[in-house]
Amino acid sequence: MNQIEKTLSIIKPDAIERNLSEDIKSIFLKNGFQILNEKKIKISKEEAEQFYLVHQSKPFYNELCNYLSSGPILVMILTKENAVSENRALMGATDPKDAKEGTIRKKYGLSIDKNSVHGSDSTENAVKEINFFFKD
Ligand code: CDP
Ligand code: MG
Repeated sequence: MNQIEKTLSIIKPDAIERNLSEDIKSIFLKNGFQILNEKKIKISKEEAEQFYLVHQSKPFYNELCNYLSSGPILVMILTKENAVSENRALMGATDPKDAKEGTIRKKYGLSIDKNSVHGSDSTENAVKEINFFFKD
């Protein structure tokens, strides 16, 4: 069933550094997402470790947490029908080399680690991730 959902999107340090946030936001808007809330922040390594806790056993966990805490990020709450899967589709595959034409990671991603955007992977994780960054 089609449901209006919310999902968490993050524009990662590599994209902020290249001043791509306005371009990426306009892609979301053109694709029917509304941006309900947004803030530009810099998180600590400990916060990144907490955010990516599901990946703690992965070999890339330490580098991933170093990276997400290495510079400013833009966190956003996006909404539309089926926002979680629609955002995943628009982002493209984790490795930009595998991402399809027309996806954000294909257009802007530099590598599997510097892949420009994060998006929640389930409605349950979307709620958790939104609460992580927007507690009020
Ligand atoms: O971000 P996504 O949900 O597509 O991928 P993930 O499997 O949840 O991994 C989280 C993040 O870890 C990815 O976006 C990559 O930036 C990073 N990663 C990595 O650096 N090396 C890998 N082999 C896999 C993921
Ligand atoms: Mg993921």
